[in-house]
Amino acid sequence: MSKHILLGISGGIAAYKSCELVRLLKKQGHSVTVAMSRAAAEFVSPLTFQALSGNPVLAETHGGGQGGNGMAHINLTREADVFLIAPATANTIAKIAGGIADNLLTNLAAARKCPLAVAPAMNVEMWSNPANQRNIARLISDGITVFQPAEGEQACGETGIGRMPEAAELADLLPDMWTPKLLQGKKVLVTAGATFEAIDPVRGITNISSGRMGMALARACRAAGAEVTLIYGQIQTALPAGLAHAEQAVSAEAMYRAVMNRIGGQNVFISVAAVADYKVKNSSAQKIKKNTGGEPPLIELEENPDILASVAKLPEPPFCVGFAAESENVLEHARAKRVKKGIPMLVANDVATAMGKTVNRITIITETGETAFPEIGKRQAAQAVVERLAGLL
Ligand code: C5P
Repeated sequence: MSKHILLGISGGIAAYKSCELVRLLKKQGHSVTVAMSRAAAEFVSPLTFQALSGNPVLAETHGGGQGGNGMAHINLTREADVFLIAPATANTIAKIAGGIADNLLTNLAAARKCPLAVAPAMNVEMWSNPANQRNIARLISDGITVFQPAEGEQACGETGIGRMPEAAELADLLPDMWTPKLLQGKKVLVTAGATFEAIDPVRGITNISSGRMGMALARACRAAGAEVTLIYGQIQTALPAGLAHAEQAVSAEAMYRAVMNRIGGQNVFISVAAVADYKVKNSSAQKIKKNTGGEPPLIELEENPDILASVAKLPEPPFCVGFAAESENVLEHARAKRVKKGIPMLVANDVATAMGKTVNRITIITETGETAFPEIGKRQAAQAVVERLAGLL
């Protein structure tokens, strides 16, 4: 869903992160218009944002920030679906909290009709200052989204809370603002990625799952308002921001234990992880040596627990969603798998289209019917699963 985002930049060193943010939002398919305070234009040139956004930049240094009819502060937010101020300085936050409109950004905030979000960026002492905390609480009670600053080393040399979240994190969280809250109040546990079964301390059996489909589902559930716990094996992609809990469990057995440990109280279990069916029975504590000319080592396998089937068999199971990656007779095998595992919903995909890729071609199979989708991005596929799931809960 492509949106028009008005990005306000106030005067903080974190303005450099907003260059990357514009790029990421554009990559998600959105259009971005940048408005800058006078101080912001001293950190990063408006020309940089113009080149990155592909749109004219409104900057107070360039003619007072007014458009053709002198009404830019009105017009800009009328055209926008969301107004994000990142970085938002303590000064800008204080003015917005107090309803002051004395420059371009605060005028835009005061005159807006669209939702407003801020990503504060400031020194740790400024962040924890009671006046600032009061202002942040005021913004939240006024219905403004506040992206909590991160902890770490600051540009001033001090360490603590106050850093603006990284651009990737903001780009990840922003779409939650316009996502329907289909899973509000629900707790969802997702497994993702490939498991790894050790042969010896350096070698193992794994698979080509990248974790992208699982991450997309964790993200889609979070965006839909769910409290998401993620348990992941080996992954080749970034973890989603804003999860209630995330932990790595690399072997199937470790993943089984982690899931069982956390499944109590969950409303939904989405098992996307590509879990190894077998583990190595005779794994070696020491690295296996090459035995040139002799017998090659024999690897003996034994069955792993089936996490999904075990969860489905719990006395009060959550709503279980399975994934089936098949290389042949995809639908036939998937239908049988749903029944065998005793789960209400299973998503079938062809390994050739799905595993290790950014796209997927899924069929959602439930007790009452099947819906096949064309090849789509994993983000869209995850959204389709969430919509179907929400309808069945
Ligand atoms: O039986 P198969 O591995 O094809 O089933 C795939 C589904 O079962 C996936 O949802 C996967 O996460 C889950 N699974 C599991 N534990 C296993 C094997 C698969 O939870 N040991």
